[in-house]
Amino acid sequence: MMTEIQEIEIQKQYMQKVAKLIENKDLKYTILTMGCQLNENDSEKICGMLEEMGYRKTEDIEDANLAVFNTCCVRENAEERLFGKIGNLKNLKEKNNLIIAVGGCMMQEQHILDKIKKSFSYIDIIFGTHTLHKLPEDLYKVLEDQKKIKDVIDIDGNVYEDLPIKRNSKTQGSVTIMYGCNNFCSYCIVPYVRGRERSRKPKDIINEVKELASQGYKEIMLLGQNVNSYLRSEMEAIQQGKLKDEAGDYKEINSFAKLLRAINQIEGIERIRFVSPHPKDFTDDVIEAIADCGKVCKCIHLPLQSGSTNMLKVMNRKYTKEQYLNLVEKMKTKIPNIKFTTDIIVGFAGETEEDFEDTLDVVKKVGYEQVFMFIYSRRVGTPGDKMPNQIPEEIKHKRFDRLKDLVESQIAKTNKSYLGTAQKVLVEGPSKNNEKMLTGRTESNKVVVFEGDKDLINSIIDVEIIEDHMWYFKGKVL
Ligand code: SAH
Ligand code: SF4
Ligand code: F3S
Repeated sequence: MMTEIQEIEIQKQYMQKVAKLIENKDLKYTILTMGCQLNENDSEKICGMLEEMGYRKTEDIEDANLAVFNTCCVRENAEERLFGKIGNLKNLKEKNNLIIAVGGCMMQEQHILDKIKKSFSYIDIIFGTHTLHKLPEDLYKVLEDQKKIKDVIDIDGNVYEDLPIKRNSKTQGSVTIMYGCNNFCSYCIVPYVRGRERSRKPKDIINEVKELASQGYKEIMLLGQNVNSYLRSEMEAIQQGKLKDEAGDYKEINSFAKLLRAINQIEGIERIRFVSPHPKDFTDDVIEAIADCGKVCKCIHLPLQSGSTNMLKVMNRKYTKEQYLNLVEKMKTKIPNIKFTTDIIVGFAGETEEDFEDTLDVVKKVGYEQVFMFIYSRRVGTPGDKMPNQIPEEIKHKRFDRLKDLVESQIAKTNKSYLGTAQKVLVEGPSKNNEKMLTGRTESNKVVVFEGDKDLINSIIDVEIIEDHMWYFKGKVL
C-alpha cells in the first residue's frame, strides 16, 4: 500500500505532466463551490493544484476551458442548483470543448452517480471527497487519452498534506484541522459522504498557521465538522495500542484545547475562530482555553439544531435543552462578554408545536448574534428520512417564518446595543456594494462598512458604530 506522502508525490508528477501538456496554451478554469467552509477550503486546494499546472482563473464560464463544480448535499436545494447548472452546459461544452469536472460531497451518493450516468453522461471527471488530491491524474487522463473518469471511493478516509493552495481571502486563512464526522445526527448526510473523523497532526497545522502568519494573515479560521473532538480518535487508538506515536507527534498537543493554546502563541496572528464545535464535546478545558487565549474571538458558534429535549434525542444530538442552556450559562460566567451564534433546523420529523416552542424559548434565552436557520430537508440514507412522522411543508415554512421573525427582532435589538460603541475591526477590503467604502468585521463577526484609506486593509482598527442595519453596521474610523 502506498503511503499518503507517496500518493501526493505521484500527483505532483502528474501536475508537471499536465503543465507540460498545456504549456503556452493559455488555458483557463472556473470553479463553483457549494456548501460549507470545509468545501471552500477544499476548493482552495483545487485552485492551488490547477494554478500549479498552469491554468488561470476566470469568473466567466464562456471563457473557460475547464469548469469545476465542488458540490454539497446537506440540503436538497443544492442538488437542484447543480443539475440546473450542468444541464445548461451541454451546448457550451460542444462549442468550446469545455472539460467539466464535478466533485465533492454529492458525488459520494450512489443515487446521484446513477442520475449523472443517465442524464449527464457528458461530464468528464467525477471525483469524490476522498479523491480530490487526484485531480491532476484525472485531468491528465482526460487531456491525454480523452477518457471519461469516475474516481469516487467509499472509505473511512485519509489525511493528505502538502497540496498547493490558492486562498480566497488575504485576511482570513482557513485551516482544516480534521476531516469527517462520527456523530451521525439522524437528519445529516455528512458522515456518509465525508467518512470517519480523522485529525491532522498538530505540527502540520502549526506549520500552516505559521506560514499564514508569515504571509501577513491576521485571522485564522479552524475548520472541522466537530472541532472539539480534534485528535479524539487518534488518542483512543493510541490508548488501545492501535496507533504508536513513535515520532512523538501528539506529545505536547493532544486535544483541541491545547491546539488553541499553541496557535494563540503564534506571532502575527491576531484572531482565532473555529467552526463547528459540538455542544456535547464542549469540555471545561476548551472553555478555559477560550478564556485564557487573548486571540480567540469571544463569539462562539454553538449549533443548537433544536431546543426540544425530545427532538434532540430523535436527532441523536446527545444533549438536552437544559444541558445546552447550562453550557451557555457556564460559558457566560467564565468568559466575560462571550457571544454566541448558532444553527437551527425547523420541522424535523415528529416536531410538535410544543417542541418548536422550546426552540423559540432557547433562542430568547441565549440571545444569539446570528442564527443560521434551515428547513429540514430529507436526505436519502439517513435515519431521519425513514421516520414516519414527517412534517408537512406548509407547517415547516410557517414555523420557519415564526423563528425568523423572532431572530430578526432579537438581532435588531442586539444591533442597537452596538450604537456608539468602539469596536475592533479587521479590515478586509473594499466593500462589494460600494468600492469607495471599506468593509471589515468585529470580533463578534458583524460586518462594518466605513470610509477609510486602503492602507488600513488587513489591520485591526478602532471603529465607532454609527448606524445599525440588520446585516451590517456603518462605522467611523476612530
Ligand atoms: N457539523 C456541523 C454542521 C454541519 S452542516 C454541526 O454539527 O454543527 C451545517 C448545518 O446544516 C447543520 O448545523 C444543520 O443545522 C444543517 N443541516 C444539516 N443537515 C440538514 C438537513 N438534512 N436539513 C436541513 N438542515 C440540515
Ligand atoms: Fe452532521 Fe451532526 Fe456531524 Fe454536524 S455533527 S456534520 S450535524 S452528523
Ligand atoms: Fe455540504 Fe459537504 Fe459541507 S455536504 S455542508 S459541503 S461537508
